[in-house]
Amino acid sequence: MRKMSYSTMLQFAFLLLCSISWASASHPSRGDFVQCLLNYTDSPSYFAKAIYTQNSSSFTSVLDNYIHNLRFLLPEVPKPLVIITALTENQIQTAIFCSKKYRLQMRIRSGGHDFEGSSYTSNVPFFVLDMSNFRSISIDVKGQTAWVGAGATVGEVYYSIYEANSTLGFPAAYCPTVGIGGHISGGGYGPLVRQFGLAADNVIDARVIDANGTVLDRKSMGEDLFWAIRGGGGASFAAILGYKLKLVEIPEKVTVFSINRTWEQNATQLLYKWQYIAPKLPLNLVITPQIVSINSNQTGKGTVQVTFVSVFRGEVDELLSIMTQQFPELGLKKEDCTEMLWIQYFAYASGLPTSNITESLTSRVSSAKLYYKAKSDFVKEPIPEKGIEEILAKLNELPPFMGMLEWNHFGGGVMETIPESATPFPHRGNLYLMCEGVSWDEQVVSKQRIDWLRKLYKVIGKYVPNNPRAAYANSRDLDLGVNNKGITSVEKARIWGAPYFKNNFDRLVQVKTKVDPYNFFKNEQSIPISQ
Ligand SMILES: Cc1cc2nc3c(=O)[nH]c(=O)nc-3n(C[C@H](O)[C@H](O)[C@H](O)COP(=O)(O)OP(=O)(O)OC[C@H]3O[C@@H](n4cnc5c(N)ncnc54)[C@H](O)[C@@H]3O)c2cc1C
Ligand SMILES: *[C@@H]1O[C@H](CO)[C@@H](O)[C@H](O)[C@H]1NC(C)=O
Ligand SMILES: *[C@@H]1O[C@H](CO)[C@@H](O)[C@H](O)[C@H]1NC(C)=O
Ligand SMILES: *[C@@H]1O[C@H](CO)[C@@H](O)[C@H](O)[C@H]1NC(C)=O
Ligand SMILES: *[C@@H]1O[C@H](CO)[C@@H](O)[C@H](O)[C@H]1NC(C)=O
Ligand SMILES: *[C@@H]1O[C@H](CO)[C@@H](O)[C@H](O)[C@H]1NC(C)=O
Ligand SMILES: *[C@@H]1O[C@H](CO)[C@@H](O)[C@H](O)[C@H]1NC(C)=O
Ligand SMILES: *[C@@H]1O[C@H](CO)[C@@H](O)[C@H](O)[C@H]1NC(C)=O
Ligand SMILES: *[C@@H]1O[C@H](CO)[C@@H](O)[C@H](O)[C@H]1NC(C)=O
Repeated sequence: MRKMSYSTMLQFAFLLLCSISWASASHPSRGDFVQCLLNYTDSPSYFAKAIYTQNSSSFTSVLDNYIHNLRFLLPEVPKPLVIITALTENQIQTAIFCSKKYRLQMRIRSGGHDFEGSSYTSNVPFFVLDMSNFRSISIDVKGQTAWVGAGATVGEVYYSIYEANSTLGFPAAYCPTVGIGGHISGGGYGPLVRQFGLAADNVIDARVIDANGTVLDRKSMGEDLFWAIRGGGGASFAAILGYKLKLVEIPEKVTVFSINRTWEQNATQLLYKWQYIAPKLPLNLVITPQIVSINSNQTGKGTVQVTFVSVFRGEVDELLSIMTQQFPELGLKKEDCTEMLWIQYFAYASGLPTSNITESLTSRVSSAKLYYKAKSDFVKEPIPEKGIEEILAKLNELPPFMGMLEWNHFGGGVMETIPESATPFPHRGNLYLMCEGVSWDEQVVSKQRIDWLRKLYKVIGKYVPNNPRAAYANSRDLDLGVNNKGITSVEKARIWGAPYFKNNFDRLVQVKTKVDPYNFFKNEQSIPISQ
């Protein structure tokens, strides 16, 4: 990788040049940005392979590869001037240096799953630092740890761990194409959340490059920054190179079921009851209700369907006995249950083939692209039946499968015992995380669908805590509020910051002010510095 002597020199150049750049009022021409990258790197010919300008023939494919949401593929969405698919740490250091010199904003992208596209679009001139080449994974089976690059997907991580030892796993997302860099820095929940907590709760070290261009690990960055990048979002603090994960022991095989109930088949009562049962279930079982609209003609109550999707890290008979005791109303039968490998479950959960897990878990781009928008809520107290009816009625307004709610099972496990201030993610002690989503397949209905989602959100607001109304930082929602183009006050940022971080917001501001005092790492919802 980089030569040490050169890097010391480069850091020296940083100090001199960045102070000049901050002090100077005029901007040098942005066209020279690429020349700057080549001038200040240790190997210009190698760096040239990683730089895509708007007139590079593969610019569009490199950009679009990791854009999953059609909303952000539209021509009017601002595009970066340059994409850097960095190959070395030195190239990232150089990119940060030239970004300051040419006042070109940097956006960092790992898996590109950001709900608002904030890793690859901006309203000011910008370039994208794409981390997809930083995806090495190295596993220490004996020590039960792994170093994973920020650009790896969770599917690649799960697959590599499985290959190393089929009874080790890691608690992260359901969806295999989610990127490590955004996912872990923003929290990260999945089917192991009740037993082991969030992905961020299971990080033991990290490597980052800060605004000065310095490579830091846990020891050299200190506990404040290390705390911030485990739930506070990487994009406010540093370019994350990779995380060291603590792996967890899991059985190789699981039992899954997926049971549909329509509105007419008592879906409301079942959802209501689920809220009481969920925290009592053993920690090796999650049941996540997914609620979709299934009929567009809006003629009544047959038109919403709840699918109780479940994974149990144990055998069929044991699952049946738990369900008969705890949730007989669901009527689970042996024939509803399927045994599979834990690793196959991730393919199954995403609707991918379970026959070739190599393919399903390591293919980095999702095949089906849709227009969508999502929001989130944390639910502490059961929603009354009347409230559930009102929410389902709202879903019933949409065509089949275009409206979706997911009630992610959190309650009753370690999420109750981890203190709110342990990481920036404060939402401990909830029954479930509700994700509300809407999708569409033609652009003309965009506004109508987004309006619908906002109305649904109002309805749900009657039944969830409201001071502040909580939201999950990784389900980014710009409706909660955005920063100013220039300086943003802490109080203005608190409007969106309190829902994501509650009382941890102030500590995030303190850390930000200390580690990035010139606000280099910046976006619509980045943590502000205190004035
Ligand atoms: C289909 C789908 C399924 C999902 N399923 C789950 C789930 O099961 N559980 C869950 O918890 N979440 C889930 N999410 C949300 C997901 O965790 C977040 O969108 C997450 O931020 C995505 O990370 P990314 O690297 O793919 O995204 P990106 O768009 O690349 O990045 C997201 C944010 O992180 C920043 N960032 C990315 N990489 C770095 C880096 N290396 N250094 C600094 N900052 C960086 C970006 O600038 C941006 O602000 C899902 C999202 C989608 C679209
Ligand atoms: C790059 O280096 C050349 C030769 O040293 C110099 O003339 C040019 O101004 C530099 N350009 C930038 C953008 O740094
Ligand atoms: C891209 O186009 C600009 C002019 O529009 C030109 O100056 C530049 O050399 C081109 N770059 C490449 C890599 O072709
Ligand atoms: C795999 O991990 C389990 C712990 O889950 C351990 O008991 C076993 O020895 C490991 N196997 C190998 C080959 O390291
Ligand atoms: C549940 O409903 C979905 C969507 O309507 C369908 O694809 C699936 O096959 C159904 N599952 C079962 C087990 O009936
Ligand atoms: C719905 O619930 C009622 C009473 O709570 C029960 O009589 C009925 O059989 C249930 N219907 C289904 C389809 O489960
Ligand atoms: C409307 O929905 C009802 C109930 O699901 C169904 O019986 C009817 O055939 C539907 N009508 C049309 C036009 O699709
Ligand atoms: C599974 O997928 C991988 C990756 O796409 C491919 O190389 C392999 O041949 C496939 N295996 C089978 C048995 O189809
Ligand atoms: C960045 O460099 C400046 C100048 O040497 C120093 O004062 C500051 O502490 C450094 N910032 C960090 C976060 O290390």
